[in-house]
Amino acid sequence: MDLRTSMLVLFFALLISTTKALDPCDSQSNGNDLSVIPIYSKCSPFKPPKIESWVNTIMDMASTNDPERVMYLSSLVAKKKTSSVPIGSGQRLFNINNYVVRAKLGSPGQLMYMVLDTSNDAAWVPCSGCAGCSNTMFTPNTSSSYTPLDCSKPQCSHLRGVSTSCVSGGPTDQCLFNQTYGGDSSFSATLVQDSLTLANDVVPNYAFGCINAVSGGSIPTQGLLGLGRGPLSLLSQSGSLYSGLFSYCLPSFKSYYFSGSLKLGPLGQPSKIRTTPLLNNPHRPSLYFVNLTGVSIGRVLVPIAPEFLAFNPNTGSGTVIDSGTVVTRFVQPAYEAIRDQFRKQVKGPFSNLGVFDTCFASTSEAEAPIVTFHFTGLDLKLPTENSLIHSSSGNLACLAMAAAPNNVNSVLNVIANYQQQNLRILFDVANSRVGIARELCN
Ligand SMILES: *[C@@H]1O[C@H](CO)[C@@H](O)[C@H](O)[C@H]1NC(C)=O
Ligand SMILES: *[C@@H]1O[C@H](CO)[C@@H](O)[C@H](O)[C@H]1NC(C)=O
Ligand SMILES: *[C@@H]1O[C@H](CO)[C@@H](O)[C@H](O)[C@H]1NC(C)=O
Repeated sequence: MDLRTSMLVLFFALLISTTKALDPCDSQSNGNDLSVIPIYSKCSPFKPPKIESWVNTIMDMASTNDPERVMYLSSLVAKKKTSSVPIGSGQRLFNINNYVVRAKLGSPGQLMYMVLDTSNDAAWVPCSGCAGCSNTMFTPNTSSSYTPLDCSKPQCSHLRGVSTSCVSGGPTDQCLFNQTYGGDSSFSATLVQDSLTLANDVVPNYAFGCINAVSGGSIPTQGLLGLGRGPLSLLSQSGSLYSGLFSYCLPSFKSYYFSGSLKLGPLGQPSKIRTTPLLNNPHRPSLYFVNLTGVSIGRVLVPIAPEFLAFNPNTGSGTVIDSGTVVTRFVQPAYEAIRDQFRKQVKGPFSNLGVFDTCFASTSEAEAPIVTFHFTGLDLKLPTENSLIHSSSGNLACLAMAAAPNNVNSVLNVIANYQQQNLRILFDVANSRVGIARELCN
């Protein structure tokens, strides 16, 4: 090689390595920091069924998926489990969940882009032979550490408590279960165990559902990683590995190129963070209930009758922080009070756009008041990008929250992920608290 050629080679080598370093999709997570990837962003293998602006995507998700999600969450907390959740009509355009992480199952590890879901405990993935699944599936027979679990195993009885059932007495006595998800979908699965690898951590003998058949359009294509806090959750199954805590930062919906992060365990967590206690609903141990005590619009504390916010394990009422609902929903009377106060402080006229009923000329946006959620011990002042959403043409801004969907007799308020953008949310289950801090993760 002459000097010129070697310079050129060097140049291209440098170019390739810098491009690699700059490619956010390539960020090999160091340590326990895992990328949290918006499901339709550049780094995700999933492509939206239609090419839309991100605003329209959110509008679609908020009006199509959220009602089912809220219905689903409400059915979880209802005193008696709603056995027949109404089937949503029409085509499901989008999967209900919005963020995925890379995880590997088996030995050697098989890569899956699994949806993050803080309101579920168990994990499940489509397994080879699954009827109705897409083609990325976990293949148990190529993993040396795979074992099915039978009905006598404690993990199987953990499932039984959670709207599933174990069929024993078959020739293999495997722990089979059916689960509904997202309101309109269900799957049947076998409980199995295998190694789970997240970044550099290996959780051996991790119990999860190996899906054999699905029906409906809401089952995440490459499976789901439950980050709830019940006995089958990642935190419970990883023992002391993560000391009972994790956090995530969700990137802005606008950021096609960027990923947030999931941090498992105490390393790298913010040292100064305001927290609010977690509340336990024994009927639904996996959900992250917090005590929302009030909402302020600008300087005005919105008058909301206490029963619409109060935590009550018997009725299931209260407020959860959820990673799978797109826009925050309040029970109808609470939402109306919040909205009315907001309208008092912004120049109308107000119009509707999708699920949003308080849209106004974006020229009035400067007067839009700050929305603050008051939790016990913690006030969350929403950045404007978390409280307002703009129409795709840009000339309207809307209050990005809504009432619980019609026909859902919900008593639950859901703090959803549009309101969680660019915040680090710390779930300190060991100390029974949730921390929230501003962090630009994109
Ligand atoms: C594993 O199972 C699949 C489908 O069930 C089958 O096609 C494949 O041949 C099996 N591979 C091995 C190594 O047994
Ligand atoms: C799951 O559903 C299928 C189809 O409806 C049914 O045949 C099977 O018995 C169910 N299994 C369990 C464990 O409930
Ligand atoms: C929630 O906060 C309110 C107001 O401070 C308090 O009265 C109530 O006891 C709290 N609820 C729980 C379950 O901690």
